[in-house]
Amino acid sequence: MNEKKTFYITTPIYYPSAKLHIGHAYCTTIADAVARFKRLAGYEVFFLTGSDEHGQKIQRTAEAENLKPIEYVDKIVAGFKELWKRLEISNDDFIRTSEPRHHKVVQEIFRRIRDKGDIYKGEYTGLYCTPCESYWTELQLDENGCCPDCHRPVEKVSEEAYFFKMSKYADAVLKYIEENPDFLEPKSRRNEMINFIKQGLEDLCISRTSFNWGIPVPDDEKHVIYVWFDALTNYLTPIGFLDDEEKFKKFWPADLHLVGKEIVRFHTIIWGCILMALGIDLPKKVYGHGWLVIGGDKMSKSKGNVVDPMLLIDEFSADAIRYFLLREITLGQDGNFNRDALIQRINSDLANDLGNLLHRTLNMIGKFQNKILLAPTEGTEIDKSLKDMAIETAKNYRQLMEDMKISDAVKTVWQFIGRSNKYIDETAPWKLAKDETQKQNLANVLYNLAESLRIISILISPFMPATSRKIHEQLQISQPFEEIRLEDAEIFGKIEKNHEVGKPEQLFPRIEIK
Ligand code: MSP
Repeated sequence: MNEKKTFYITTPIYYPSAKLHIGHAYCTTIADAVARFKRLAGYEVFFLTGSDEHGQKIQRTAEAENLKPIEYVDKIVAGFKELWKRLEISNDDFIRTSEPRHHKVVQEIFRRIRDKGDIYKGEYTGLYCTPCESYWTELQLDENGCCPDCHRPVEKVSEEAYFFKMSKYADAVLKYIEENPDFLEPKSRRNEMINFIKQGLEDLCISRTSFNWGIPVPDDEKHVIYVWFDALTNYLTPIGFLDDEEKFKKFWPADLHLVGKEIVRFHTIIWGCILMALGIDLPKKVYGHGWLVIGGDKMSKSKGNVVDPMLLIDEFSADAIRYFLLREITLGQDGNFNRDALIQRINSDLANDLGNLLHRTLNMIGKFQNKILLAPTEGTEIDKSLKDMAIETAKNYRQLMEDMKISDAVKTVWQFIGRSNKYIDETAPWKLAKDETQKQNLANVLYNLAESLRIISILISPFMPATSRKIHEQLQISQPFEEIRLEDAEIFGKIEKNHEVGKPEQLFPRIEIK
């Protein structure tokens, strides 16, 4: 049976409480690079992102603007979609928690868990941080008795509420995390979660009565289902949980929930308990990435240090931003966003290394061979070492991407770009062109450079889709861009003899440093 491999990847669904900043774009760009890589590697991918629209905070913000909550979120979510489009995010679906398809799933899940006796009504008293929509215990507060996330004051809140018996599943989730080392990555976050569960899990408050912008509790409509119980279930909705059994079987369990480090706890412990209560398998992997920081501080609207990704895209192009985020920050660790570093990367890695390689190569093929690539022969030792490195690069790249070492995968490709540029200097095609006896050598060098660029364009396609396409077009590769697979980068010598290349066009202009 020829079964297609599938890959289901999600980003968190974003709060529409503020404009998205470059930190959110970071998370979505990583997910997009992984999704594109998996497609390239032949997987059938389902890539989900979306918006987490309910809650008191949104309701209050909307009221302050004299809008209904849905009117307010419609406006913001349109901005999300625009940003993802400009950033070339290739999501297969965009889930909004305000959609009827999602309400249906959340209510059904609530019913199922209530019917088995794991949801009960009680009284909740807790320390609540409204901006973060989180309850905290005394122990979790910061040194000033404030919210440990945003450091603003918390208030004591008491209300009738439904609870999910999370305590019942604590041991099972703990065992699951301990027995499945791949479930939670990077490994450093595993111990944090294990210790958290070992301190004991309290039952989870899953409804509120103090606002109504949310999904009503079935048969008790004065309650709305509260935050994580509503938000996490989004991952089940678009893959056919209630309406397409075959699709659901195909994509669940999710292969990867990519999330920021501060919400790993919710995605492993709370989500693990909910799924166990439902008798549904847990996702295969939750990966907690680090934060994009500015001078050591997490970017956030309240701190006034947000960087608007739209402005950056306008100024530098989506691919330049994507490249910087993927290359500069080691996945799993925090990374600094710095405009000067971005400009430097554009000038050195993109304009200089990659841009010049393409430009010089096409220019020489045009000038010395009238744009035609002639049949190559085996060539010299230098030629051979370039070809070997191309194959080695594609192989290492595949492994690094499979291991989520994205920044290392980018670096590997750039080492090969560096090698290719050096190959031009070493072989000096302009000298070969002056010597009739060197015709074949010249043909070999130009062919090898074009092949190297063809391979490079494939390998960078998950990082910089537009640039990849431009190189493909300038080389005039006949295979349709969408049909190219990773295997095509693992063979050196695919371009046919007598192939005609196009005119060189600049990929990235150099940025003047003011
Ligand atoms: N709505 C919840 C997620 C529910 S998932 C079922 C939420 N939303 S959020 O908008 O606050 O954050 C979404 C994601 O953006 C999180 O993974 C968070 O870590 C990430 N980031 C927010 N600021 C960030 C940085 N400065 N740097 C990197 N990622 C950041 O949490």
